[in-house]
Amino acid sequence: MKLLKKAIIEKGRVLSEEVLKVDAFLNHQIDPTLMQEIGKEFSERYREAGITKILTIESSGIAPALMTGLELGVPVVFARKRKSLTLVDNLLTAEVHSFTKNETNEISVSKDYLKDDDVVLVIDDFLANGQAVRGLIDIVQQAGAHLSGVGIVIEKGFQAGGDFLRNQGVRVESLAIIESLHHNEVIFREEL
Ligand code: G4P
Ligand code: NA
Ligand code: NA
Repeated sequence: MKLLKKAIIEKGRVLSEEVLKVDAFLNHQIDPTLMQEIGKEFSERYREAGITKILTIESSGIAPALMTGLELGVPVVFARKRKSLTLVDNLLTAEVHSFTKNETNEISVSKDYLKDDDVVLVIDDFLANGQAVRGLIDIVQQAGAHLSGVGIVIEKGFQAGGDFLRNQGVRVESLAIIESLHHNEVIFREEL
C-alpha cells in the first residue's frame, strides 16, 4: 500500500536491525486519514469474505481495526491484555508470549461478543513472531467461530510470524512487508 509505505519512509525511524518505530502515525500519535485508507484497503481485500466481526488486541490494533469495521459495517472487538474490573467471567482466554519483551500475558475476550456463527477478520498493527495473532486465532477457535483471515498493517518479513501463519493455511494480508532494516534503511518486500 503506497500511502503506508510513504509514511513508513518519511515518518518511521529504524531503531535497530529488528525494530521500526512508527509512533508518528500508528503507535502513539495516530493519523486518522491514513487509518481510514488502511481500513478501505483491508475491507477491499476481504469484501467478499462475509466478515461479521473484526477481532484485534489493545492498544495499537484498535485504530486500523476500527476503520476496517466502519468500512465493512461490522463490530470491532478488542482482546484485553489486563483483566477488566467488570469483565471477570464468561471469558475466552489465551496465553501470548512476547519474545521482544520476554513476558507472557493472558489476553481475554468476552463470550458475549464472539459467537460460533461469526466470520472473523483478525487485525493487528505489527506482525513479528506472530504470538499475538496466534493468541487471537486461538480465541476465535475457542468461540467456535470461523477465521476468514488476518490483516496486518506492517509485517516484518524477516521474523517468523508471517511464514508460520501462511504455512498453517491462514490467509494473511499485510499492507507493507519489511524485508530488512539493515544499515538504518527500510527495505520492502517486492509486491507480486
Ligand atoms: P508478536 O506478537 O508478532 O510475536 O510480536 P512481539 O511479541 O514481538 O511484539 C510485542 C509488541 O511489540 C507488540 O505491541 C507489537 O505490535 C510490537 N512490535 C513488534 N515489533 C515491532 C516493531 O518493529 N515496531 C513497533 N513499533 N512495534 C513492534 P504491544 O506491546 O502489544 O503494544 P501496543 O499494541 O499496545 O502498541
Ligand atoms: Na504495538
Ligand atoms: Na499490536
